[in-house]
Amino acid sequence: MRGVKIVGTGMCMPKYILTNEELSSFIDTSDEWIAQRTGIRQRRIVTDENTIDLSVKAAKEATEGIDPLEIDLIIVGTVSPHQVIPSVACSVQAQLGATNAMAFDISAACSGFIYGSKIAVEAIRCGSAKKALVIGAEVLSKVVDWSDRGTCILFGDGAGAVLYEQTDVNKILAFDVGSNGMLGQTLSLENQAQNNPLIKNEYSPSFIKMDGRAVYRFAVNVVPISIKKALEKAQVNIDEIKLFVLHQANERIISSVAKNLNVDLNLFFKNLDKYGNTSGASIPIALHEAKSNLKNGDKIVLTGFGGGLTWGSIVVQW
Ligand code: ACO
Repeated sequence: MRGVKIVGTGMCMPKYILTNEELSSFIDTSDEWIAQRTGIRQRRIVTDENTIDLSVKAAKEATEGIDPLEIDLIIVGTVSPHQVIPSVACSVQAQLGATNAMAFDISAACSGFIYGSKIAVEAIRCGSAKKALVIGAEVLSKVVDWSDRGTCILFGDGAGAVLYEQTDVNKILAFDVGSNGMLGQTLSLENQAQNNPLIKNEYSPSFIKMDGRAVYRFAVNVVPISIKKALEKAQVNIDEIKLFVLHQANERIISSVAKNLNVDLNLFFKNLDKYGNTSGASIPIALHEAKSNLKNGDKIVLTGFGGGLTWGSIVVQW
């Protein structure tokens, strides 16, 4: 079987920093409440950037020194694309000049990067691609209800990218992925209402709705199971893992997972204090920031969870 490894990472965050203090100036909340319940202190939100701009910059960094013509596949995990057609992935393709790539977006919310990585890695394994670029990119600030203090405090904008490449020695050791559509309505973002010659609906913008407690229960339950399953498939002992890079949703979720797995919390990477929850973008952003502390051969786990509901883990050898 063909091997796969990560050969590049990149990220791009909007310039504007929205702090908890500034949020508290227009909704009824406080830095203390947000920091205690979530660990978030600030997030980035777009002013003049969009999902494509952020994706292109992250992609350029991840593919630096690579001939764009060698990229065979571009997948963007996003639930907040700049436009539906053309996809963000096709727009990235155009701006990179990656004219040989197949490019498309996928919708798996906060698991979008993990799902996209599974598709990309399997495309490389079966020989249909040699280099595959996976991007997680979100501008959630446009789909957040800024009057709902239960959700707007959590989310932020940003993009991260990872370039996978075929290799002789395999470094992507295992995946575990899953979905549970039965719990889908605990976290939702509606699309445009039906409108056709037979049905008329008023246009009204849709925002993220969430049953925070239900999503919390789901996350702390499913993440340890997914990590254990992925490690078992990889035949790697949990003690061998140098770093856990979880979706950056909430510090309390990360602490609960560490406790459940009986792993030192210091082995769990965190940057949600700076960026909040950037959904599909959070794992590639975190990986890009974490990689300066990784050595060749280190085994790490990446885990996403969120809307769908969806989840997934990857065991990677750096
Ligand atoms: N500031 C101040 N008070 C608030 C705020 C706020 N921002 N938000 C809610 N409250 C109040 C509520 O009104 C409520 O007040 P009441 O007791 O007088 O009714 C009280 O705080 C408790 O509210 P809960 O919603 O029950 O608070 P909880 O402790 O559950 O924390 C939170 C809410 C942080 C959203 C938590 O449920 C959570 O983290 N859930 C997981 C959500 C998550 O991570 N989602 C993303 C994962 S999936 C994805 O990434 C898309």
